[in-house]
Amino acid sequence: MSTDTLRTEVAIIGGGPAGLLLSHLLAAEGIDSVVLETRSRDYVAARIRAGILEQSSVDLLTDVGLGARLAREGDQHRGIYLQFPEERHHLDFVDLIGRSVWVYGQTEVTADLVAARDADGQQFFYSISDTALHDVDTDRPYVTFTDADGTPRRLDAVAIAGCDGSFGPSRGAIPGGTTWEKTYPYAWFGILADVAPSTDELIYAWHPNGFALHSMRSETVSRLYLQVEPGTDPASWSDDRIWDELATRLGHGQDGWELTAGPITDKSVLPMRSYVHAPMQYGRLFLAGDAAHIVPPTGAKGLNLAIADVALLAPALTDLVRKNDARLADAYSDTALRRVWRCTHFSWWMTTMLHRNGDPFEEQLQLSQLRWVTSSEAGATGLAENYAGLPFA
Ligand code: FAD
Ligand code: PHB
Repeated sequence: MSTDTLRTEVAIIGGGPAGLLLSHLLAAEGIDSVVLETRSRDYVAARIRAGILEQSSVDLLTDVGLGARLAREGDQHRGIYLQFPEERHHLDFVDLIGRSVWVYGQTEVTADLVAARDADGQQFFYSISDTALHDVDTDRPYVTFTDADGTPRRLDAVAIAGCDGSFGPSRGAIPGGTTWEKTYPYAWFGILADVAPSTDELIYAWHPNGFALHSMRSETVSRLYLQVEPGTDPASWSDDRIWDELATRLGHGQDGWELTAGPITDKSVLPMRSYVHAPMQYGRLFLAGDAAHIVPPTGAKGLNLAIADVALLAPALTDLVRKNDARLADAYSDTALRRVWRCTHFSWWMTTMLHRNGDPFEEQLQLSQLRWVTSSEAGATGLAENYAGLPFA
């Protein structure tokens, strides 16, 4: 079968938040791109993942015309609750650092991006296979793939953006490099439930039985998580057992607080790991988002880091494509990695402070750290600054 050849300025591999937002930012600068995605359009739209947007992510989405529904339906939170036995403390980020966070699911961010790209005539290829990168160390890189109809295709570009998540092929197209990885000895059991949240802002709870988190998606949908053993089968927990354990760990009955149970609509178990790959650039290939780094979800950073990468990458690619000026492109990896490591540390710190690992000495350190963060303005300010996120500049 003959190969159909297409040409664009930036070939974007991956139609998750990083790839979609990059195509949007490039289009605003008049740069043409094509988005390649292995999954179907419906699968990408339905995937349930992150839920919290940092101030800088919200500011960027708003600046580029993606803020209307977010402003209407997103829920601005002043801070979070940190809890340990008998104590629940509110950390007010607005008072501490003048910044806040928003509850607005990744599903909604994706829906807004897809709608905007469709309205703009963005070219997508969904349900593709056999994605392969070629000649990335030359100024004529290209991607080959098989489209949804089985036609082999070649996409020529000035640059390739590898936004293909932790299992995509882009990272492997960078020879050498260094990776740092840590797998945590626990996992999160996440549920989505059709019930009004029992809290106004997120509760992160340390408990002798393990960590629990009460998050939310809207006034009628709650998202909750329990620390479990890696490899736990979601089907092995009955709904009653899940709600009982959440009630215990989140402190149902303490100071009159109650957890309201409701119908569970989704159950999944997520592994927890940290992963960083450097460099994030090789020749004309640039990695962004989960393709270059993974954080455990405790700091709510994964989606925000993907947005921050792309905020740096879009101007770098614009200068490269328009002016053949590679200065920002050459600086991209080092600049992005500074934020990546800050978020990697914060996510590790939140994770190790809140999850039980069976070590009685570390348990005392965790409780001491929690007491300090909730009683010292310096401690609380450090958490707030990292959680609400540093400005992108
Ligand atoms: P992705 O969203 O992974 O997008 C990459 C895209 O590339 C995917 O659509 C994939 O199908 C596509 N792709 C892969 N291979 C190819 C290929 N060969 N060719 C073409 N396309 C390809 N973060 C949080 O902050 N909080 C959370 O609660 C949270 N929960 C999560 C739950 C799960 C199950 C996962 C996997 C992640 C979660 N994250 C969470 C992390 C957050 O969702 C990610 O950081 C975010 O999705 C990163 O966006 P991305 O665009 O870089 O990657
Ligand atoms: C979520 O709502 O899914 C969520 C919120 C905060 C986190 C992780 C996940 O730290």
